[in-house]
Amino acid sequence: MLDLLVRNGTVVTAEGSYPYDVAIQGGKVAAIGPHGTLGEAKETVDAAGKLVLPGLIDPHVHIHHPFKGSFAGDDFTSATRSAAFGGVTTVCDFAIQWDKTKSLTDTCALRKSQFEGQSITDYAFHACLTRSDGETIGELPGLIQGGIPSAKLYMTYSRQGRMSDDAALYEALRLTAQYGGIVGVHAENDAMCYYFSDAFKAAGKTSPHYFPLCKHNLVESEAVNRAIYLAKVTGGNLYIFHLSCKESLDILRKAQDEGVHVYAETCIHYLTMDMSQYDRPDGANFICSPPLRSKADVEALWQGIQEGRIGVVSSDHCGFTLANKATGGNDFTATPNGLPGMETRLPALYTYGVKAGRISLSKMVELLSANPARAFGMYPRKGTLAPGSDGDLVIFDPAEEKVISPAVLHSPVDWNPFDGQTLSGFAQAVYLAGKPIIQDGACLAAPGTGKFVQRDAKAICIFDR
Ligand code: URP
Ligand code: ZN
Repeated sequence: MLDLLVRNGTVVTAEGSYPYDVAIQGGKVAAIGPHGTLGEAKETVDAAGKLVLPGLIDPHVHIHHPFKGSFAGDDFTSATRSAAFGGVTTVCDFAIQWDKTKSLTDTCALRKSQFEGQSITDYAFHACLTRSDGETIGELPGLIQGGIPSAKLYMTYSRQGRMSDDAALYEALRLTAQYGGIVGVHAENDAMCYYFSDAFKAAGKTSPHYFPLCKHNLVESEAVNRAIYLAKVTGGNLYIFHLSCKESLDILRKAQDEGVHVYAETCIHYLTMDMSQYDRPDGANFICSPPLRSKADVEALWQGIQEGRIGVVSSDHCGFTLANKATGGNDFTATPNGLPGMETRLPALYTYGVKAGRISLSKMVELLSANPARAFGMYPRKGTLAPGSDGDLVIFDPAEEKVISPAVLHSPVDWNPFDGQTLSGFAQAVYLAGKPIIQDGACLAAPGTGKFVQRDAKAICIFDR
């Protein structure tokens, strides 16, 4: 007897849409097949008229992110609960080496201990080094082989002690050519970031309007170009986090055509809003790095997605509250960077992507689930619904509409970039390892339900395709 049968729905994977049932046994997908063909189960869920998606993976989130001695407004439980309401069953956060006296390995162990017993969703994290010495770089092979096969390097934020230098990037990429794994970068030219922001500050131009003019497209595209060149010469595996502009996309296209192992994500906000947000009275809330760009950049990113150049849409969630944001006093140089977004990524991509006719349902699943799993060593355990995959799934109602506000979301963060907008397409129920974690508008999972995902460098399969 099967544990669970999700019947009569339309299963959507990256490959297509099928009138299939899904059977779960022991927390894993046991079978998928045409309606009524999979036998009996202890529990049956009727998904007629609904879509059944593999659990979503958000490969770029910052939970409990520090800022000026305090933290963003959500914690490991509340952030992952809100993510689950957004159809997310696995988050990839960052183990950032804030304490440089700690090894990268110990930093990862610390991050794991912070999630343990707290998380609603499954979780993983990228090892984010802030030291550029041989000792730190030398830890990467052990991490890659030990279940954390992705690293992240910041190419900026030197004044916050977060930046790695180009030698570290070169070495990290070289190691991925040898051991597998993948290196992600926050690509912005550090010297330019500070040169321009110092100049704008000296000229008294610190209102949010000036933020995208300060961190303009070249600031990103130069760093993207440099990282790609290092990937090319080393033969390493590179992932560009939050690619946001046309110039970076042009560089990416050329490199991919040359066979460089470079993969890119963009974030939901770069696809759905532009720099005019900074001219709103609450424009400071929209400060994130890279900044929101021009309408032409937004259109270019959609084209990059349609061409398959950009393979992932993440949230880059950072749960700064209105109070956190207000500490900046409307000065872009002092405002905490980052936008909340884990819960609204799915309805926003459905509304602006599928409903607007820009992408298919399968493409949406590819961007939100299959490709994040492929990029970060979780496929096909996650990212699809196939025999042997984890029993993580979303029963998705494309017809449901909500006017976004904190009242309809499930986060302690008291604002959302989509506030006031009507979005369509919401998760009606969410299952993790075959158990419901979201049902009938309630979270059924206790903190600690989500588990650490031990990933496999050999399962990174974005460059084989
Ligand atoms: O502006 C962004 N992307 N914020 C996210 C958190 C960070 O500092 O990287
Ligand atoms: Zn980020």
